[in-house]
Amino acid sequence: MRLLFILFLFFGNVSSFNFLVFCPLFAHSHSKFFATIADSLTDAGHNVTFFTPTIVEKYRNVSYTKSTKDVVHMKPSKKLKEYGEQMSTGDFVRYWTEDSTATEIIPVVRIFQKMYNEQGTVMKDNVGILNELKKRKFDVIIFEAYIYSAYPLMDYLEIPTFIPSVSVAHDTSLAIEIGEPVMPSVVSDCLSPFGDKLSITERAFNAFMVPYFDFMIGYPTHRSFKPPYNPIDIRSIVPEASFVFLNSNPFVDFPRPTLTKTIQIGGISVDSNELRSQKLDETWSEILKLREKTMLVSFGSMLYSKDMPFKNKIALKNAMEKFKNVTFIWKYEDDSSDEFAKGIENIHFAKWVPQTALLADSRLSAFLTHAGLGSINELSYLGKPAILCPQLFDQMRNAKMLVRHNGSIELSKYDLGDSEKIVNAFQAILFDSSYAKNALKLAEQLENQPIKPKEMMVKHAEFAARFGRLPSLDPYSRKMTFIEYFLIDVAAISMVVLIAVVFVITKMFKILCNKTSVKGKIE
Ligand SMILES: *[C@@H]1O[C@H](CO)[C@@H](O)[C@H](O)[C@H]1NC(C)=O
Ligand SMILES: *[C@@H]1O[C@H](CO)[C@@H](O)[C@H](O)[C@H]1NC(C)=O
Ligand SMILES: *[C@@H]1O[C@H](CO)[C@@H](O)[C@H](O)[C@H]1NC(C)=O
Ligand SMILES: *[C@@H]1O[C@H](CO)[C@@H](O)[C@H](O)[C@H]1NC(C)=O
Repeated sequence: MRLLFILFLFFGNVSSFNFLVFCPLFAHSHSKFFATIADSLTDAGHNVTFFTPTIVEKYRNVSYTKSTKDVVHMKPSKKLKEYGEQMSTGDFVRYWTEDSTATEIIPVVRIFQKMYNEQGTVMKDNVGILNELKKRKFDVIIFEAYIYSAYPLMDYLEIPTFIPSVSVAHDTSLAIEIGEPVMPSVVSDCLSPFGDKLSITERAFNAFMVPYFDFMIGYPTHRSFKPPYNPIDIRSIVPEASFVFLNSNPFVDFPRPTLTKTIQIGGISVDSNELRSQKLDETWSEILKLREKTMLVSFGSMLYSKDMPFKNKIALKNAMEKFKNVTFIWKYEDDSSDEFAKGIENIHFAKWVPQTALLADSRLSAFLTHAGLGSINELSYLGKPAILCPQLFDQMRNAKMLVRHNGSIELSKYDLGDSEKIVNAFQAILFDSSYAKNALKLAEQLENQPIKPKEMMVKHAEFAARFGRLPSLDPYSRKMTFIEYFLIDVAAISMVVLIAVVFVITKMFKILCNKTSVKGKIE
């Protein structure tokens, strides 16, 4: 009896599962998010494999995972390499000056789509590696929801359970697929440049964007990696996802209705305690001591400062020059800064900056950023006031999302050539203490979240591993027609009944009136 009990205890506790995190290597922030998922599961005692087929070679030697040791790579084909190059060295420079909303971004999305499809072909041509992976008998696969080559992979490896995830804050297509209520009138898609207060044209844009994208891009066809290579009906499989993980945080994002299936783990990659314990090296520390205030300026790793229009560089320089008591650390990727800012003392140009360590340092006063989600999460958790200057993709929405908390200011990329507007933004963020106070308040809320993103993710991943697909979480609303879902049939019938009743009442009233008047005449 006692032995049984001990055995039970033993097996009860040692419920370790096998997870596959599938993360094609093409973007830094994306790999960081999925590596954190892998490491969190490893740290919780599970067997995790991080499968990261190369697309963009320059990231190949970066170790994204820390505690997860089972990292499997795969070489790209020539074609895939080319797509990777197009994508990473890309045509992004034009977005310094051009509109990048959903309709403009379609050519870029097409390249991404081709790249993901080619990724599928590469896996099919490398079944040797897949056969090795198959031996690990995975319980669950976790992958970026819009990289559909994960579905033939899951099929080949015979993985029963899957968790599509997105490294952005909100993906309307995924929401629709799993039957989550979407509210285009008040919740913007990750590619919409709006916040939560939308004008009539913005609401129309927001509502028609997903169907328009569907129409322009279409749904990719993926075939099984096994003969006879039948096509896989991905659309019918997606709703069977046990959970979906989103890189949004309910305390930062716009409030919206979700499903039990939707697990918001935004901020999971930010370990604020670890960041605060990082020490800046002597050189950087000295730079922070130079003046009473210091501001970090970085436009991220997709659009480079060196490529911005010359007019913008001059305007930024002129604005910075006005703040003699502020040191500006400007991430600038080559030596051409000499052409416009030679001899200006309070600007420190650097090809690389220790961004998180700087943000975690109390001596840094503010941050001018492109509002990539990684930076947004970091500065939210570390409580820094910021100027948000979004350029493309989800950055416009990210900026609106954070500005709502009153700890930051949005500066349009079209105003980057206007020195006066930049000066006003600098003046406010550096000297109006309300921004710092509100930024700190948000950071404190995030520090005290009832359930931490990491714990939330691990618990749900374990639940999925134990119970597999969860049809009980699949809402019936998904199968309803538009007319049923929005009660349009009920409204139509109610209207007809109402009109009929009004009609009958007026008729009766008229008859009654006629009768009394006829009576009146006779008398
Ligand atoms: C996890 O990996 C270890 C070492 O490879 C292995 O002994 C163990 O059986 C694995 N666990 C499961 C649940 O497969
Ligand atoms: C990665 O590292 C290996 C060995 O250290 C080296 O041979 C290779 O050229 C590196 N690749 C890239 C893309 O830097
Ligand atoms: C810079 O700081 C000094 C000393 O704190 C002060 O006297 C001066 O007015 C400041 N200059 C500007 C431009 O704010
Ligand atoms: C931000 O400021 C506005 C206007 O003062 C206020 O209505 C709103 O509640 C504030 N938001 C937060 C999150 O503090």
